[in-house]
Amino acid sequence: MVSIDNTNSTTANGHGAAAAAVDDNMSTDPPAQESNGSQPEFDAYRRRKSTILPLEVGTRVNCRWRDGKYHPVKVIERRKHFSGGSNYYEYYVHYTEFNRRLDEWVHLDQLDLSSVETDVDDKVEDKVTGLKMTRHQKRKIDETHIEGHEELDAASLREHEEFTKVKNIATIELGKYEIETWYFSPFPPEYNECTKLFFCEFCLNFMKRKEQLQRHMKKCDLKHPPGDEIYRDKTLSMFEVDGKKNKIYGQNLCYLAKLFLDHKTLYYDVDLFLFYVLCECDDRGCHMVGYFSKEKQSEESYNLACILTLPPYQRKGYGKFLIAFSYELSKKEAKVGTPERPLSDLGLLSYRGYWTRVLLDILKKHKGNISIKELSDMTAIKAEDILTTLQSLELIQYRKGQHVICADPKVLDRHLKAAGRGGPDVEGSKLIWTPYKEQN
Ligand code: ACO
Ligand code: ZN
Repeated sequence: MVSIDNTNSTTANGHGAAAAAVDDNMSTDPPAQESNGSQPEFDAYRRRKSTILPLEVGTRVNCRWRDGKYHPVKVIERRKHFSGGSNYYEYYVHYTEFNRRLDEWVHLDQLDLSSVETDVDDKVEDKVTGLKMTRHQKRKIDETHIEGHEELDAASLREHEEFTKVKNIATIELGKYEIETWYFSPFPPEYNECTKLFFCEFCLNFMKRKEQLQRHMKKCDLKHPPGDEIYRDKTLSMFEVDGKKNKIYGQNLCYLAKLFLDHKTLYYDVDLFLFYVLCECDDRGCHMVGYFSKEKQSEESYNLACILTLPPYQRKGYGKFLIAFSYELSKKEAKVGTPERPLSDLGLLSYRGYWTRVLLDILKKHKGNISIKELSDMTAIKAEDILTTLQSLELIQYRKGQHVICADPKVLDRHLKAAGRGGPDVEGSKLIWTPYKEQN
């Protein structure tokens, strides 16, 4: 199992509430590792501190994370409070080794000021390429390869990060859960001052105050997503919501989803999309656990635009279920499909696992030759995705002048074991659905 965050609990994925203010003009002790130093060292530390504070945006420094250890960060933003005659700063930092969902506001006392980087232009070696370059050049290269963004070019990445650099909403309430958010989401301007939002779990309207939500819940008569229930298996249901018929619901869902999706553009034009909402149902109603969106018509043969499992429901196999469901729809449409790019780190892991399980299961059972085209016809997985999956597992070999799939049962078993189990089964017979085109 690959661990992405070192955290897998619901709340640990996001950041905590806004940090308490710390006075930058107050004397702070030097970090623990320096506190045994002599008086001259201590004086030097204080002098240095007075010249570097407040820290500039862009500064690189080590910061104490929730694991108690120091990790390199970059200061993304700072904010100032004026109180009791002193200036107070808190800093919004990005842990350069981790995904952006872990960005957070921190106190000055979490920062190891002795590690503040001054821009030395001596040459360093890039471990990947072995090339010698200045720190500045190396940083530029590292920055364009931020985890999960390999497929964006440097200019779009910069633009994206500038606009979305600071998380706006820190937590949301949805159904019985309070959930810490991961990323910025462009809520309308009247929500600019809010750090917490309260969602109706059925119509997904969001409110600034708990009392508003309580009043809303008395009036709201939805007990499941709007639209058609197209699949039911015991307590699991899938609803198809047409963005054109349920515009507000579609927009609310996009605002909500963006809190957990980093690099997806928010489509205001929800008319063009269908939303497939997965629910756990009980006697109180159908509670959304995740969804995927799908363009009504896709020239690029995308069969999924965005996929999300809400954090309290993650790592239970629902992501795998949603992916399998998207291919089940493609099979019914007699089309091949592929997810829209770029994939996030977690999206890529989920898809790799799905592709591996589906393709290797077939290869294991199949007798005789089989081509990529045949695999694609059987699974609705686009040929390119089949090829990259088999290549990454080193199952494509070049023999006697042509490419062949190597299907040694032992090797297949080893890969299948590593890919883990699938999610809840998608029972094709329980899907009651007509592809969009045919309805018109
Ligand atoms: N750490 C390590 N591996 C993980 C993690 C994690 N935190 N989360 C998922 N995985 C991998 C594992 O291999 C896991 O299988 P396993 O549990 O058997 O080891 C596999 O992905 C899928 O697990 P599921 O439980 O089926 O997936 P989940 O319900 O958690 O949903 C999803 C996966 C949808 C990607 C979820 O993580 C999510 O919503 N993330 C935020 C939004 C996002 O990134 N969406 C994809 C964007 S790309 C696009 O939309 C086209
Ligand atoms: Zn409602």
